[in-house]
Amino acid sequence: MCGIVGYIGSGNAEKIVIEGLKKLEYRGYDSSGIAMNFDGKLVVEKRKGRITNLEEALEKASYDFGNCHLAIGHTRWATHGAPSDVNAHPHFSMDHRIAIVHNGIVENYLEIKDRLIKEHGIKFVSETDSEVVAQLLSVYYKGDLEEAMFRAIAEMRGAYSICAIAADEPDRIVATRKDAPLLAGIGNGCNFLASDIPALLKHSREFYLIENGEVVVLTRNDIKIYNSEHQPVTRDVFHVSWDADSAEKEGYDHFMIKEIHEQPKGLTETLERRLGADGTVKLDGIHLTKEDIEGFDRVYIVACGTAYHAGLIGKYAIEKFAKIPVEVDVASEFRYRDPFVDSRTLFIAISQSGETLDTLAALREAKSKGARIMSVVNVVGSSVARESDDVFYTWAGPEIAVASTKAYTTQLMCMYLIALYMGRVKGVLEKAYHDRIVEELRAIPAKLEKLLEGEQVIKNLAKELYRIEHVFFIGRGTDSAVALEGSLKLKEISYINSFAIAAGELKHGTIALIEKDTLVVALSTQDRLFEKMLSNIQEVKARGAFVIGVAKEGNAAIEEQASRTIYIPECMDEVTPLLTVVPLQILAYYIAKERGCDIDKPKNLAKSVTVE
Ligand code: M6R
Repeated sequence: MCGIVGYIGSGNAEKIVIEGLKKLEYRGYDSSGIAMNFDGKLVVEKRKGRITNLEEALEKASYDFGNCHLAIGHTRWATHGAPSDVNAHPHFSMDHRIAIVHNGIVENYLEIKDRLIKEHGIKFVSETDSEVVAQLLSVYYKGDLEEAMFRAIAEMRGAYSICAIAADEPDRIVATRKDAPLLAGIGNGCNFLASDIPALLKHSREFYLIENGEVVVLTRNDIKIYNSEHQPVTRDVFHVSWDADSAEKEGYDHFMIKEIHEQPKGLTETLERRLGADGTVKLDGIHLTKEDIEGFDRVYIVACGTAYHAGLIGKYAIEKFAKIPVEVDVASEFRYRDPFVDSRTLFIAISQSGETLDTLAALREAKSKGARIMSVVNVVGSSVARESDDVFYTWAGPEIAVASTKAYTTQLMCMYLIALYMGRVKGVLEKAYHDRIVEELRAIPAKLEKLLEGEQVIKNLAKELYRIEHVFFIGRGTDSAVALEGSLKLKEISYINSFAIAAGELKHGTIALIEKDTLVVALSTQDRLFEKMLSNIQEVKARGAFVIGVAKEGNAAIEEQASRTIYIPECMDEVTPLLTVVPLQILAYYIAKERGCDIDKPKNLAKSVTVE
């Protein structure tokens, strides 16, 4: 989704902002732009399409960049108005004295726009909601951009992070946020603004996280934050431990394949930090007492996309190990269906970015009804993390590719740990069983390394299959949840029409779609359901399907039924999802690569979905 970068200092502002915007390309965008202050004159350049289009325009215009030390830039993911040069940000006020960039949606923009036209004769040039911000600021501007910002946000509804500059104030940037991320990066003789940390990692690892309703004012040597009562606030510095290299491809063709390979490391980090010397789970950052756990009569796990799929496995784990009923819901549905939530509810939000608006809104809904809020989040300090009672971080490191991989497996690991912990504390999980599961979890990273060494087999399979247009993923038990994730991975990066269904449900309708050479990926890793899966494979084979069977090593009987087989290392049924999903990620990646797709930036998608 949209990205923001701002810079003020003595360096080349255009270069720094464009570099920062490129670091945000992974979030998905359809146009980009920059506003610069040249000694009291504002200049805006913006172009539809890739940032290279903007760079070409800037080169042609041949500005004196050495003379520009303040700039704000933006990558836009269209919501109001099609992707175009005119709808791209930054937006000017009518007099070209103020320029803004904006992430999010101003929900009451039509009402404000109408008033500005009627009362002030303002002429709008774009179809966006964002332009009203620039026009509103100019109406309130009396030489103090900070003051104008406070007046403007008092009128706006919706979610936003906004950066503004004024021609008459060449020495400061003013910004604000509500329900959309914004942080200020601390430099030496310079300062930065961004919507995401990777944009600034080259320049700073020290940040101030801006809170809802605050206004931040950046000068070359200072960052001042004001609360909604206009009072200065003191903020702790937030230090990021990962460096710029973690956000680079390091020789891999794409971030996605790099991140697939980072899974053993991420899982080791996520697990080992939480195991005591005696091998029992300790939940850092979570303060659930025995009384708390015994007091929960239900758990809701709420998330979107891949994180939702991780929640489905979380349900299996919590119900099995902790014996508490669990409901899993997609966030965009949960908040509008008046769910039964009270103080005996444990609400678990799962989110890689911690900024997904639907998840955040569902969390607030549950909080308002008295639930205890726990979150499983990757981005430290994100909104979901900050609004939760307890946070359990997935130590996956930055995930750049739009297609989530290492976030998913580390989310699974977190769900296992939470379930084991609750089961032990509640006294419903036998120590011996707990210890066996922990042992199995500990063995996963090495097994994954082994699986990744066999990548070539799947790569060859992708070469054989990449022209297919329809795929079905089937499975039983936890495999049916992993099937959903395998299917999502394939469709989002290769644009192949793929569908996942519990294998037992096939014959209740969907089998009508199976015909000669339809590809069916049959996940058959659950020992107790293996024979049932063999029957399901026979059913689709009988109708002409080409079947890829995925099974544990040793279950060679699958080779008699499936057209091709992928093996995962031997492990207990309970933990197979951590392994089973990886060949599916690799298959999706190589199929998309064979089809020549833009893997890290799939069309129409954004890394972090900050609108409803
Ligand atoms: O940042 P979040 O985990 O909250 O994001 C949720 C989904 O938008 C995300 O998982 C999405 O489905 C991915 N593109 C899947 O690969």
